[in-house]
Amino acid sequence: MDIYSAIKPVLWRLDPERAHHLALWALAHGLVPAATEPEDPRLTVVALGRRFANPIGLAAGFDKDARVWRQAGRLGFGFVEVGSVTPRPQSGNLQPRLFRLEPDRAVINRMGFNNAGVEAMAARLAARPRDGALVLGINLGKNKETEDAAADYEIGARRLGPLADYMVINVSSPNTPGLRALQGKAPLAALIARTHGALVEACGANPPPLLLKIAPDLTDQDLADIAEVALEGRLAGLIATNTTIARPAGLDPRHASQGGGLSGRPLLEPSTRILRELHRLTQGRLPIIGVGGVASGADAYAKLRAGATLVQLYSALVFEGPGLVRRIKRELLDCLERDGLRTMGEAVGLDHQSDS
Ligand SMILES: Cc1cc2nc3c(=O)[nH]c(=O)nc-3n(C[C@H](O)[C@H](O)[C@H](O)COP(=O)(O)O)c2cc1C
Repeated sequence: MDIYSAIKPVLWRLDPERAHHLALWALAHGLVPAATEPEDPRLTVVALGRRFANPIGLAAGFDKDARVWRQAGRLGFGFVEVGSVTPRPQSGNLQPRLFRLEPDRAVINRMGFNNAGVEAMAARLAARPRDGALVLGINLGKNKETEDAAADYEIGARRLGPLADYMVINVSSPNTPGLRALQGKAPLAALIARTHGALVEACGANPPPLLLKIAPDLTDQDLADIAEVALEGRLAGLIATNTTIARPAGLDPRHASQGGGLSGRPLLEPSTRILRELHRLTQGRLPIIGVGGVASGADAYAKLRAGATLVQLYSALVFEGPGLVRRIKRELLDCLERDGLRTMGEAVGLDHQSDS
């Protein structure tokens, strides 16, 4: 039995948000064993102008304030995305706001961008050595009260752009009123232009790549619009997807009707469907980070084959513990061998080749 299986019953007796804080504390204090085995070179991915030691990343929301991203990286991730961070600190929604649906291997959250703000994150990250070993993404959100949403993303981009390996515009959280309306064609194009402008202003000729994170609850028309805007040139990639407001039948009745975004296993299929469609609409011209429901090497491999260049996860960590990352990487290599491929890159979009 691994350590996580031993302590899980104790963690799970705690309120989920407390358990999360305990996990952050344990990471910060070096109490979670790091992955020590050397990285297999077949896992390397070069994308977004960066070298990723492996394609598995920690999704946004776990380390909202960039407190433990390095330690989290040592669990074996190739990259970590911190945030969502907003210009001003905010406390988020009232608790309880995080629910575990154990039989479904799912989570519902309506955190509402609780975070310590851009300045606190900048201060923490300013001291970081740029050794390039672990790729750092910074995910931007907006404060609940802000009317001119793009102004908030500009502030985040200006202040944090110089500290990031890549930046993310998050317009897909279901827990900030009006946020997802920014995914419409005209507001989206304007938002991307302004955020990109701020990045260029702050970083000069070499701004970090800018990505857009989208919701799974979009119509075909929304997706076509997003693909069109994405190909206009300022975006370096897409992240598909955030949590869903849908509630598939049969979810744990104790929590199914909680408001917020659903993540974990029930999101695997719908988020992979969106990813596949986006890859098709953009003709594979933009790297896509596939996220939603990944809990095994086979899940991650399915995302790659559907068109993801990189993959992220969050919810499965709650159920499987930190050993999950190592296991996924081993299983990914098995999938690669089974299909006679030599690198992760050869798997990207493979499903589409058999379509044509
Ligand atoms: C508790 C919680 C908080 C999250 N907070 C954020 C956030 O601040 N910004 C964001 O872009 N995504 C956030 N997410 C979404 C995740 O990054 C990810 O897109 C989603 O959970 C699907 O992946 P998963 O099924 O592997 O969890 C959050 C998810 C959870 C469970």
